[in-house]
Amino acid sequence: MQVSGVIARRSLLTAALAMVLALFSFGASNRVGLDQLARRRGLRWGAAISVEALEQPDLVQLLLANVGSITPENAFKWAATEPRQGQLEWKAVDQLMQFARRHQLQLRGHTLVWHEQLPGWLTALPADVRAQALKAHITRLMQHTRGAVSSWDVINEPIDPEGKGLRDTIWLQTLGADYIGTVLQWARAADPQARLFINDYGLEGDDPQTLRKRRALLDLIDSLQRRQVPLDGIGLQAHLLAPPEGSPPFTTLPGFLKQLRQRGLLVEVTELDVSDREVNGTIATRDRQVAATYQAFLQAVLSEPALQRITSWGLSDRQTWLNRAFPRRDGQPQRPLPFDTRLQPKLALHQIDATIRRARSW
Ligand code: XIL
Repeated sequence: MQVSGVIARRSLLTAALAMVLALFSFGASNRVGLDQLARRRGLRWGAAISVEALEQPDLVQLLLANVGSITPENAFKWAATEPRQGQLEWKAVDQLMQFARRHQLQLRGHTLVWHEQLPGWLTALPADVRAQALKAHITRLMQHTRGAVSSWDVINEPIDPEGKGLRDTIWLQTLGADYIGTVLQWARAADPQARLFINDYGLEGDDPQTLRKRRALLDLIDSLQRRQVPLDGIGLQAHLLAPPEGSPPFTTLPGFLKQLRQRGLLVEVTELDVSDREVNGTIATRDRQVAATYQAFLQAVLSEPALQRITSWGLSDRQTWLNRAFPRRDGQPQRPLPFDTRLQPKLALHQIDATIRRARSW
């Protein structure tokens, strides 16, 4: 009697617990995903992803519930595709292409011409051979992914960090001052359907350095367009920094996006995340500052008709690159993305949701 009473109480408890869990997970899976929300505004939401992340079923599930587009975090970079000269590594590229195809996700190409994550053997080559190697790299990768990649970050981070014209890179030195025009022509020839982008960071704020960088980018665009060089859009990386208090205004950003639109260009936010490395205090304080920054930024960009897609650099704090690249002084892990390391929604996600729902559609 007593024993079965215990069992009965236990199974009642188990049933109640199961019901609560079911309700909870129903609530969670019933949430409208980010991409679904973005579509209501004529946009798509995407996320960067590594091939390693494809091995994590919980992360893949979160991804599929929230994105309509993926960007390979590292797999398409030259150091990954040709670590030894002439030895092409297509495995990771093909895995991501298959994943995108299987789940009907858009795929961004990232990135062809950059001064980082280059294979070591390149620097030893004489300049003319190196130029030919770049052309071969662009042509090969774009042809391999033809039809699967809708937009390519052909050139990554070409503007000088201080805004003094073009950044002095191996490619400027190899191909000369018009290297951007040259590689854009190569890219157009390799995959005529793909949209060709220039992608850069530090274009979102209101400080003098940002304004100088914008000016330098607009000058570059004007000179390319005068010479009828193919260029379809500009990517704003949007690696943002949450301020210690208050929220950054992004006052001048809508005007800048309009300048891009007036030049006939598309706009994408390509690598969105919000670092909390300068915010002290509790997790709640840090999360509030991060969420406020997402809100202010999205409010500034969402009403721009040229905006096509917003891609965050990962979806959960488990994936962030920031702890390696810009660690916090107190050694704590950062909380820059909409979901935490356990893939639970954070204030940032609620704020992103609310801002998209409130956004003006044109
Ligand atoms: C980062 C990746 O997230 C890291 O895993 C890698 O170690 C370095 O590169 N701007 C870019 C991205 O255009 O390609 C960078 O990605 C982040 C900054």
